[in-house]
Amino acid sequence: MRKKQLIAGNWKMNGGLAANQILIDALLQGMGSPACDVALCVPAPYFSQVQALLSGTSTALGAQDVSAQLQGAFTGEQSVSMLCDFGVRYAIVGHSERRQLHGETDELVAAKASAVLGKGITPIVCVGETLAQREAGHTEAVVKHQLAAVIHANGHCISEIVVAYEPVWAIGTGVTASPDQAQAVHAMLRAQLRHAASEHANDIRIIYGGSMNAANAGELLAQADIDGGLIGGASLKAPDFLKIIAAAC
Ligand code: PGA
Repeated sequence: MRKKQLIAGNWKMNGGLAANQILIDALLQGMGSPACDVALCVPAPYFSQVQALLSGTSTALGAQDVSAQLQGAFTGEQSVSMLCDFGVRYAIVGHSERRQLHGETDELVAAKASAVLGKGITPIVCVGETLAQREAGHTEAVVKHQLAAVIHANGHCISEIVVAYEPVWAIGTGVTASPDQAQAVHAMLRAQLRHAASEHANDIRIIYGGSMNAANAGELLAQADIDGGLIGGASLKAPDFLKIIAAAC
């Protein structure tokens, strides 16, 4: 039996008090009781609002990043225990925008994954190659190197993570990996997880992100090793996000 799919919205730096309320009202109304897991990874200033709006529902609150440090003089950062205070259940780590714009290394991403795992939050570990890396034939080496750092740092609890394969060239571009291209990388990542956590590899969700939308979600989510989606732009439009959730369920 296939594991429950996970559909996670990544709002990025979008939203506002009034707009969040409208979006979440529409989502909750349209969703009913979905057969898949749903999470909304929202900007930290809205944790309190979104926690209240989602309370009593099965939709989980997620964060888009977290500090690897537990507390102290780290201006602008949010710690894992702060996320716990608001009932955050998932935290994206290593999104390509953080790797590219904020210089996050594989080692830092692995440390962030360890920090959230230590408090029972599920890290959504993002890996993915740039267009230049794909064209040079380095996709496998790049994504495996990124995931290896997380496996190395978290060997004993690797079964608790979610992996998100997000080809950088597909994020926010409207260009999606074809179902075959995505499945091929997901199968490689699954094989790597099998090597690291043989008995749990099939239970670890490997989700796809990069211009997933209402039109292409069905075909992507039908692939054997695609266990959900990390959705940016389309998660900000209730009808589109609801169609993706329906495709996953
Ligand atoms: P996109 O973003 O769906 O807008 O391509 C996905 C992501 O960056 O997580």
